[in-house]
Amino acid sequence: MSDLEDLKQTLMAEIAGAGDEAQIEAVRVGAIGKKGSVSELLKTLGKMDPEERKTRGAAINELRNAVGEAIAARKAELKDAAIAARLKAETVDVTLPVRPSPSLSGRIHPVSQVIDEITAIFGDMGFSIAEGPEIETDYYNFTALNFPEGHPAREMHDTFFFNPDEEGKRKVLRTHTSPVQIRTMENQEPPIRVVIPGKTYRQDSDATHSPMFHQLEGLVIDKTTHVGHLRWTLEEFCKAFFEVDSVTMRFRPSFFPFTEPSFEVDIQCDRSGEQVKFGTGTDWMEILGCGMVHPNVLRHCGLDPDVYQGFAWGMGLDRIAMLKYGMPDLRDFFAADERWTSHYGFRPLDIPTLFGGLSS
Ligand code: DAH
Repeated sequence: MSDLEDLKQTLMAEIAGAGDEAQIEAVRVGAIGKKGSVSELLKTLGKMDPEERKTRGAAINELRNAVGEAIAARKAELKDAAIAARLKAETVDVTLPVRPSPSLSGRIHPVSQVIDEITAIFGDMGFSIAEGPEIETDYYNFTALNFPEGHPAREMHDTFFFNPDEEGKRKVLRTHTSPVQIRTMENQEPPIRVVIPGKTYRQDSDATHSPMFHQLEGLVIDKTTHVGHLRWTLEEFCKAFFEVDSVTMRFRPSFFPFTEPSFEVDIQCDRSGEQVKFGTGTDWMEILGCGMVHPNVLRHCGLDPDVYQGFAWGMGLDRIAMLKYGMPDLRDFFAADERWTSHYGFRPLDIPTLFGGLSS
C-alpha cells in the first residue's frame, strides 16, 4: 500500500503548493483527469484477480476521493483569495476630485447661445425657423427686396462679389438675412411667422465690425397684420431676451428699400455703470431695423399687396450678444481662442428655455 501513500503525499503537497486557480487546475488534470496518475491506477483494476481488486480497488477509490476533495477545497480557497486581491487592488478613493467629462469642459459659443435664446423666445410666440444660402444671387439679395438697379443702397452694403459667370452675373455673399424673407414667401402660403438666424458678410472690420457676422431676421405676413403687432412682438422679445419686466422702446423713422414705413428701434438703457443695464436709465441704444413689408416685395413673391400685409425686422446678433454678456471686442468672437470660449462660453447641457431660464 505504500505506493498509494507516497502518491497521496506527493499530490497533497502539490495541492497545497498550488498558488493560483490555473496551477490547481493543472494539478487536478495531472491527478484525476483522464490520463491523471490516479486515473491510470484505476485502469489497472480490470487486470487484477477479484480478491486483490477488493482491497486495492477500495484503497485507490479512497485516494481518488481524498485527492478530489482536497483539490475542490484548495480551488475554493484560491478563488476567494483572487477575489479578495482584486477588491484590494480596485479600491476607489472617494476623496479624490472628480475628473470632468468632455460634456462639462466643452463650451457653447455666445453667438450660438444667443441664437438658441432668441429662437426659444420666438418659438414660444408661434414662430418657426427658416434658413437660406450664404451665397446668394443679386436678385434675392437686392432686386427682389426692392433695391433699384444702381441704387446707392447697394453700395452701402459693402458687398463681397464673386467673379461673373458666363452670362456676366455675379453672385454675392449675402449682406443680410433679408433674402430668406423672399425665399420663404415664394415657398409658403401666408399666414407666415418665421425667424431667420444666419451668417452674413460685408467688407468691414474693426472692434465692433467683422467681415462675417450674424443676423436674425423676422417676418410676419397675414391679412390684417399692422404696426401695433410689430411693436408688441418686439417689446415682448426685448423683455424676455434682456430678462427685465419692462422696456421702453423708441421707433425712429428710417429708410430701407424693402419696408414702408421703416423704423430704427432704440431701447432705453443705463450706461452709467460698467455694464449697460436695460429697462432703466436715460440713454438709448439702437438694436434693430424694421418696418411694414413693402408692396413691391410682396409682388415679387407673387402675393397681392391688396390682400396681404405684414412686418419684418433684422438685427445684428453679435452686438446684442456683446451687450448682454459684456464681451468688449467683436474680433475675439471669431479668433478661435480656447481661453476666450471657456471664459465666455456656456455649458452645453444648460439649454435656454423660457420656463427654465434663458441665461442662468
Ligand atoms: N437687412 C437690414 C440690414 O442688414 C436690416 C433690416 C431692416 C431687416 C429692416 C429688415 C427690416 O427685415 O425690416 O441692414
